[in-house]
Amino acid sequence: MKVHSARGIFLSVGLLLIGVSLLPGQGTKADKSDAAVERTRKQTKMLDDLYKTAIVLITEHYVKGDAPAAAVAGKLLWKEMKAKGHHEVRLIDATGDPLEASNAPADEFEKTAIKRILDGMASVDRIVEKDGKRYLRTATIVPVVMEKCKSCHPSWKDVPKGKAVGALTYTLPIE
Ligand code: HEC
Repeated sequence: MKVHSARGIFLSVGLLLIGVSLLPGQGTKADKSDAAVERTRKQTKMLDDLYKTAIVLITEHYVKGDAPAAAVAGKLLWKEMKAKGHHEVRLIDATGDPLEASNAPADEFEKTAIKRILDGMASVDRIVEKDGKRYLRTATIVPVVMEKCKSCHPSWKDVPKGKAVGALTYTLPIE
């Protein structure tokens, strides 16, 4: 009789553990079948290609002498996009030595994302909820793409081309 009840307890604990493991995630990983999340990922990818291409082209063709950095133009543009209610973008540092202190990873998402990117991931995303609305947060790698980057970022002088020195982070509403 005692053996049976002990078995019963093991069985219930076992079922409970299986039940807990089947519960939906607490907003950390995106559900692959969620079409709205997939659309937001696609939109983020498009923005990432657009902003990175623009910043690299501006750096290549327009940044000469003491012209302002493309990062400064980017920040002005992202401020407008945020004010118009579209999305939020930040250019953050991955080296521990940003030119501008406010570009250090600011919250838990950005800090974790930088660790993963330095470990070799090209991008990281997470679904978050704020005031009952869902948002997709994404961080994508910013590598040293040309020697010219180092003219304003002297602390990267020994960083090889292609290595992560920062990330672009995005917050888009999931609609
Ligand atoms: C003309 C100078 C200049 C060049 C060239 C330049 N940057 Fe920057 N970069 C800046 C300045 C200035 C900031 C800080 C802007 C701010 O926050 O106001 C910055 C900020 C950054 C940041 C955020 C971390 C930090 O240091 O504040 C990253 C990442 C970055 N740049 C990457 C790059 C990459 C990659 C390249 C090459 C494609 C590049 N930069 C070329 C001047 C430059």
